Amino acid sequence: MRIVMIGTGYVGLVSGACFADFGHEVVCVDKDQSKIDALLAGEIPIFEPGLDELVAKNVEAGRLAFTLDLAEALPGTDAVFIAVGTPSRRGDGHADLSYVYAAAEEMAPLLPKGVVVVDKSTVPVGTGDEVERIIRETAPDLEFSVASNPEFLREGAAIDDFKRPDRVVIGVNDEHAETVLAEIYRPLTRNESPLVVMSRRGAELTKYAANAFLATKIGFINEIADLCEKVGADVRDVAKGIGLDSRIGNRFLMPGPGYGGSCFPKDTLALLKTGQDYESPLRIVESVVASNDQRKRSMGRKVINALGGGDQHGRTVAVLGLTFKANTDDMRDSPAISVVQALQDAGIRVKAYDPEGMEQAKKVIDKVTYCEGPYEAMDGADAAVIVTEWDTFRALDLERMKGLLKTPLLVDLRNLYSRTDVERHGFEYVAVGR
Ligand SMILES: NC(=O)c1ccc[n+]([C@@H]2O[C@H](COP(=O)([O-])OP(=O)(O)OC[C@H]3O[C@@H](n4cnc5c(N)ncnc54)[C@H](O)[C@@H]3O)[C@@H](O)[C@H]2O)c1
Repeated sequence: MRIVMIGTGYVGLVSGACFADFGHEVVCVDKDQSKIDALLAGEIPIFEPGLDELVAKNVEAGRLAFTLDLAEALPGTDAVFIAVGTPSRRGDGHADLSYVYAAAEEMAPLLPKGVVVVDKSTVPVGTGDEVERIIRETAPDLEFSVASNPEFLREGAAIDDFKRPDRVVIGVNDEHAETVLAEIYRPLTRNESPLVVMSRRGAELTKYAANAFLATKIGFINEIADLCEKVGADVRDVAKGIGLDSRIGNRFLMPGPGYGGSCFPKDTLALLKTGQDYESPLRIVESVVASNDQRKRSMGRKVINALGGGDQHGRTVAVLGLTFKANTDDMRDSPAISVVQALQDAGIRVKAYDPEGMEQAKKVIDKVTYCEGPYEAMDGADAAVIVTEWDTFRALDLERMKGLLKTPLLVDLRNLYSRTDVERHGFEYVAVGR
């Protein structure tokens, strides 16, 4: 199959490279000259484990190409995937669909007969209808289909998730679209990944329902963690005790500083807007959003309280980890932003280190001393705070830390350490929910 992928971000580039690896011929298009220049020069503009080798291998095999020029990419293509951003619209939290609609307008006059336009971006119910209308307006006589194929990959494990998904969801309103998408995903269905076929609107809503449910699980265990602290229980025991129930499942039951990233915050908000527009309120999701918003900043207060509360001017804190989770350079809506802000508001000076996220962090977090490594960040600080669960923070040299920190205080917002181990080294240890 010949595939065009519009957008070479976290989703477009991974999907394009994986489709090429399945044996399809893929051209990835982006408007961002610097991204395309980098890709043409063999560089990967984002950090995603394994992506550089996958891209290089498929470019070499002649199955994967990059261009800025949609007109060059589209002739003869069987399917065009839209994988552009759908951030929160400023002011009202609705999904900003301007990139999706712009892509539809740009492709409309260039689409070949029989093409299937597939929306892979996360978009509210009814977006496929509008994409269809936009294309039909410019090309009234064209035979084409519009389908939805939401993406469920996780940054940091994106290639594995794409190649071994729990399921592939396709939303189609006609048989031709189903046939083309089934053919594109045949390498996966041959390996027994289920292909779930439904209406286009059903697929659009499935993506939001999935993310809202996962966000709810995180919000739930975070609140249970707070209760554990009050009643003297260990949230890890409670999470295990409930997670082994197969109706609940043990994943997404790790308490922490709140969910962030490019998906959950904006997708929960957009789902609320859809609920409001259709007069079908989603009270549970509303509570999850409110609870998570408060949690991020409350984690900053947790650090301040561990330092003794009150005026903290003159204090320094080493923040270890800035990205919203490990194995990505993505800083979008990272809890670290709120944690650092809360510390700075209390007059605390922040030194920070992240293995991959520092370049992105510099664009969104100001007045921080960025360090070359965790120990440089801790040198002369009053406390160390683990915000992101990078592997490199799982085995810190506690003796060395003790020599560097002014006071041996470790605030572990990801529960990476055993209390006894840390306390044995003479540290005060503050974790989450225990
Ligand atoms: N990041 C994730 O983990 C993830 C997972 C599942 C779904 N999603 C969804 O996938 C979509 C894309 O997310 P992302 O994180 O890859 O976004 P991103 O911002 O990393 O990438 C989007 C890319 O699209 C390009 N673009 C925008 N308009 C264009 C146009 N008209 N023509 C060509 N290129 C254009 C941008 O330059 C950018 O490179 C979003 O809807 C997101 O919600 C993301």
